[in-house]
Amino acid sequence: MSPPASIGVFDSGVGGLTVLRALRAQLPGMPFLYVADSANAPYGDRSDAFILERSRAITRFLIDAGARLIVVACNTATAAAIAALRAEFDVPFVGIEPGIKPALARSQSRRVGVLATPSTLRSAKFRSLLRTHATQTEPVLQACPGLADAVERGDLQAPDLRALIRQCCAPLRAAHCDTVVLGCTHYPLVAAHIQTELGAQVHLLDTAEPVARQTARLWTHGTPCAAAPPQLYTNGDVAVLRRVAALCGLEDAQFHHGLAAATPPPAA
Ligand code: DGL
Repeated sequence: MSPPASIGVFDSGVGGLTVLRALRAQLPGMPFLYVADSANAPYGDRSDAFILERSRAITRFLIDAGARLIVVACNTATAAAIAALRAEFDVPFVGIEPGIKPALARSQSRRVGVLATPSTLRSAKFRSLLRTHATQTEPVLQACPGLADAVERGDLQAPDLRALIRQCCAPLRAAHCDTVVLGCTHYPLVAAHIQTELGAQVHLLDTAEPVARQTARLWTHGTPCAAAPPQLYTNGDVAVLRRVAALCGLEDAQFHHGLAAATPPPAA
């Protein structure tokens, strides 16, 4: 018997659960498969070749498990791999990218900040996004090396995590940004801390909802089934995945330890 047609979702780790939360709100009752490649996180410090290889392996895994559409719930993997995935696999892909356009449209002061991984900010895809949309003003780009990794460790109140957020937010505060793009799917999990550092007047922009709407437009398979709990796979710590899933309202999910880590991971 072939597995049920599902929506596959993946990220370097637990961050993509913030996208899965939006997907479930948009497509209630649809079967979802989620892969957290936590054994290989963070992707933000990896080479494009490494991220592409992992994205391919996860895509194969998801398609074998029944995925008929794949959401790349990772800005870093979207930038590094989605074009190649679209060329290689015969399923539709939806990616996520920093919301530069909506941020510029919303900003009163035209001072927009972007928090993202080093890999996303140096990618050709992001540079092209800037060339297209940031023609009048230059956003303040802040790489946050280590932040996704700190979130992956699962203690969202950890003092070193708070200190890192303070450090990453300082240049955006100094530049008086009124709108800040959360350009990594891990960052909405610490949005409250980011908001504290930037001030309540700053608007934080997350692109999970537009991704969910685009997925709903493209999804042509299957009918809702209230009894379809999301299937969550990790090659990392199931306890961390479970904890973050609960924060994203995914308590009904089923958790699996699976999907091999890359061996040996090529150097970044
Ligand atoms: N959550 C990812 C993103 O949206 C990747 C973070 C990482 O692994 O560095 O960019």
